[in-house]
Amino acid sequence: MKLAPSILAADLADLAGALEVCEKGGADLVHVDVMDGHFVPNLTFGVPVVAALARRTELPLDVHLMVERPGDLLDDYLAAGAARVAVHWEAAVHLDRLLGRIREGGAAAGVAVNPATPVELLADALQALDFVLLMSVNPGFAGQAFIPGVLGKVARLRELAARAGSRVEIELDGGVGRGNIRMAAAAGVETAVAGSAVFGAPDPVAALRELRTLAATESA
Ligand code: DX5
Ligand code: ZN
Repeated sequence: MKLAPSILAADLADLAGALEVCEKGGADLVHVDVMDGHFVPNLTFGVPVVAALARRTELPLDVHLMVERPGDLLDDYLAAGAARVAVHWEAAVHLDRLLGRIREGGAAAGVAVNPATPVELLADALQALDFVLLMSVNPGFAGQAFIPGVLGKVARLRELAARAGSRVEIELDGGVGRGNIRMAAAAGVETAVAGSAVFGAPDPVAALRELRTLAATESA
């Protein structure tokens, strides 16, 4: 399983320190939660912050766009150095076009789906998708409780993808930590985002390493 710490849960006055935690703890990706105050109530990072992060780390940036109009700044996020970009299904009127633009920009194209959005709605987008970001909290804030029913979507999505001949990667985001990461790995999640479970721990580097160990021993 790949691990993507969410720096939203870190000390936002010390983003360089957060990147250091990701590097020392062996993260595969750095998850960057972009919020616009419209699609979700919160406001977080924008293009200049993504660009600054990209200059500071070799780790690929996994940019999660929780914005009402994902098309507006998409090319800027790509130019800023995003390695992967997920737009929300609920905000993407022209999803196929957006995904095409992400791939053209040289990044992996993803779609994020809210807990109440059925994965069956993605059936006709699978060919244009590199990954699906399954939200296991309602987006907007770090530190919320995991919604366990979301794990049932993993098998449903895998089956849809198999029927379409697609090898879409499944990523899980929200409330993931030591209590549920093994379950997620067993369910078939390939990439897990973890915010508070890493940055809320007294020793974030050790917490990240522990998550990796737990995920690797998935069958409890
Ligand atoms: C929620 C964000 C998540 C969140 C993860 O809107 O998309 O990435 O920050 O943080 P935890 O792991 O604390 O739920
Ligand atoms: Zn996220």
